[in-house]
Amino acid sequence: MRRTVIRRRVTRMISAFLFQPPLPISPKHQYSLLPLTTTQRFLTASHSFRTLSTKSIPNMQDSASVSYLSQREAAEIDETLMGPLGFSVDQLMELAGLSVATSVAEVYKPSEYSRVLAICGPGNNGGDGLVAARHLHHFGYKPSICYPKRTSKSLYTGLVTQLESLSVPFVSVEDLPEDLSEDFDVIIDAIFGFSFHGAPRPPFDAIIRRLQTLQKRPVIVSVDIPSGWHVEEGDHEGGGIKPDMLVSLTAPKLCAKSFSGPHHFLGGRFVPPSVAEKYKLELPSYPGTSMCVRIGKPPKVDISAMRVNYVSPELLEDQVESDPVLQFRKWFDEAVAAGLRETNAMALSTTNKDRKPSSRMVLLKGFDENGFVWFTNYESKKGSDLSENPFAALLFYWEDMNRQVRIEGPVERISEEESENYYHSRPRGSQIGAIVSKQSSVVPGRHVLYDEYEELTKKYSDGSVIPKPKNWGGFRLKPNLFEFWQGQPSRLHDRLQYSLQEGNPAWIIRRLAP
Ligand SMILES: Cc1cc2nc3c(=O)[nH]c(=O)nc-3n(C[C@H](O)[C@H](O)[C@H](O)COP(=O)(O)O)c2cc1C
Repeated sequence: MRRTVIRRRVTRMISAFLFQPPLPISPKHQYSLLPLTTTQRFLTASHSFRTLSTKSIPNMQDSASVSYLSQREAAEIDETLMGPLGFSVDQLMELAGLSVATSVAEVYKPSEYSRVLAICGPGNNGGDGLVAARHLHHFGYKPSICYPKRTSKSLYTGLVTQLESLSVPFVSVEDLPEDLSEDFDVIIDAIFGFSFHGAPRPPFDAIIRRLQTLQKRPVIVSVDIPSGWHVEEGDHEGGGIKPDMLVSLTAPKLCAKSFSGPHHFLGGRFVPPSVAEKYKLELPSYPGTSMCVRIGKPPKVDISAMRVNYVSPELLEDQVESDPVLQFRKWFDEAVAAGLRETNAMALSTTNKDRKPSSRMVLLKGFDENGFVWFTNYESKKGSDLSENPFAALLFYWEDMNRQVRIEGPVERISEEESENYYHSRPRGSQIGAIVSKQSSVVPGRHVLYDEYEELTKKYSDGSVIPKPKNWGGFRLKPNLFEFWQGQPSRLHDRLQYSLQEGNPAWIIRRLAP
């Protein structure tokens, strides 16, 4: 009776795997040989538990290929946008402020740089700062505003009202703390923009002098023009403020050529092609849905000093599931819900008969109590390692959650039927890619792959079934060891290991020293 129940359950599990893969196979999870899509990273760290002080932004543009504008050109472009092209000033201000806020959020995470002071000047640049502060508030920062020379125009009073309704504090110049580094992590320099000329007047002259003397913290983010700099000649007299980040708007102004800080971003994803053509503007493409793009070289970092202080909920023995597959399911679901990219990407380590290890990433395509499944070419390096030594280790690292999972155990091929089913569920391009790629063998050149790919695409353009290559299929690792790692402050990380003892189906949970 019991056996029948177990058999039924196993049959149910197998058919669930065959007909409804436990993990959704979305295009983003497809492993494809095709060069047709550009991998665009969407930095979706909204659920981030931790901070990174440096993060390189994809689609980074070479500053040499970006145009720089004179003061006159910048003014003309603004007039064109707000004249014949139908933009309003508040629209452009909203887009500029949003670009500044997203640029700040790319580099300075709110968990480490939450206290922002936006110093806003009397004109449009100040308005950009007010908008940026509002968006930063919604991104989880704690902005304060110093806005000493308010204007009575309704656009500006509206921005002030919006901030007041969010209880964002306004600080007078007199009430600014003597030592800005004690109260703020980031200063937004939104004092003067590209139309400014002459010498800064009180109280901004004194504020700029204070910004010039700042050391490492707070970091300074200048909106379009570092205040006090000449719009075209930059910090021509020397001794001006040295922002850590410059967010150029629409296109960088000539002064940006002398910006030497680590983070130069461009914002203003609204320039119509007609304007770009008229002014011969070379503008970078923006990644994904982002409102900003890094231009210029990425910052040089001291690798030995790179470290993160993890802050996470504790992982305690009495909170975890007694079954590690259920615990994995829980963490996996949480990682998916947090919007992490490629949650199912895992490092697979194998060894050959000479006990030489080798690691690479593969995509998990299903898991349950029978094991963890991925697909590959059986004649690849990993396939050959696994035929020589059918044991492997899997490693997941969910960076934004400070979590790592290790899984080890023996590996076997899944049935041909399972592989067939999965193979035919993939996009036709990926099926052809699997035929074309004699994985891990030496290829004389990229064209060889493309030529064969094109040939096969033509061959199967009638929609006929693309046969699965014999050497392509799935492996299943049956775990005998799991470790769940949760990063904690001061390197006192949580490590809970699940292991099996011979002849005993119950998992033993032990805490390991970090
Ligand atoms: C995120 C990611 C996912 C990958 N997924 C797979 C996969 O599911 N199957 C696969 O064969 N290769 C996958 N690859 C490519 C492998 O890492 C590796 O280059 C390839 O399988 C050849 O490895 P081998 O020569 O060690 O066998 C993936 C690579 C990355 C970066």
